[in-house]
Amino acid sequence: MRVTIQEVQDFKDRSERFPVLTAYDYPTSKIVDEVGVPLILVGDSLGNVVLGYDSTVFVTMEDMLHHTKAVVRGAKRALVIGDMPFMSYQKDPGDALTNATRFLQEAGSQAVKLEGGEVMAETVQALVDRGIPVVGHIGYTPQSTYQIGRRVQGQSLEAARNLVRDAQALDEAGAFAVVLELVPAQLAKVITERIKVPTIGIGAGPACDGQVQVISDMLGLYTDFVPRHTKQFAHLGDAMRAGVESYASAVKTGSFPTSEHGSTLEDEVLRELLAGL
Ligand code: KIV
Repeated sequence: MRVTIQEVQDFKDRSERFPVLTAYDYPTSKIVDEVGVPLILVGDSLGNVVLGYDSTVFVTMEDMLHHTKAVVRGAKRALVIGDMPFMSYQKDPGDALTNATRFLQEAGSQAVKLEGGEVMAETVQALVDRGIPVVGHIGYTPQSTYQIGRRVQGQSLEAARNLVRDAQALDEAGAFAVVLELVPAQLAKVITERIKVPTIGIGAGPACDGQVQVISDMLGLYTDFVPRHTKQFAHLGDAMRAGVESYASAVKTGSFPTSEHGSTLEDEVLRELLAGL
């Protein structure tokens, strides 16, 4: 049975911390799902960590639907959340509804995520009222990076008050969880204690109900950029590099492939072939 949004609420109500990870493809989704991670986010961080863009602004609906479909095929139990890309929901609630519907109908995700607080509350409510589960996302919102810069949010009194208001507006609008990205730990705790639905932190301290990480960050795929809020639980980049080096060297020296990696022709067939050429 697939995880439901009620079960996500139950985590909070039981004070049970829960992990969330991003995935962008079938094999990763399959592993994350088999381990039992209850929520998989097909983040638009896809743009940075898979497609090689320097901003999520370049990610399109088609990119997101393509990768969400692959993740959905890999996840038998986890609830899959499709991340709505830049300008697929900001114009008006009608546009948001059309694009959110595509995530559920075409890609098969069970929920969507969108960035923004109070200003997006009407849109969140429009989706939720029509049966589309929504995760909110406030604090550092990467789609607004050109406007706000990549930095911790909510540090002044006014900014902190605004973030509390944003979280409450999303809660009231019916979001079933709220991502807090790059928010001071004490503020994340205040928000977590004041909204009904679970908070999911990334760089927001330990008091959040759940934690989310970009999978390539926490598996150490990249060695040139390690965000401060990440802990590397593996060193995939080093392991891949070593594997590629061994393979390249084995091909060059002739130690790979050997007869055990291929097939042979019957002597008789070979003889006749050569005789006829
Ligand atoms: O796109 C993403 O991966 C995200 C997470 C960082 C929350 O939005």
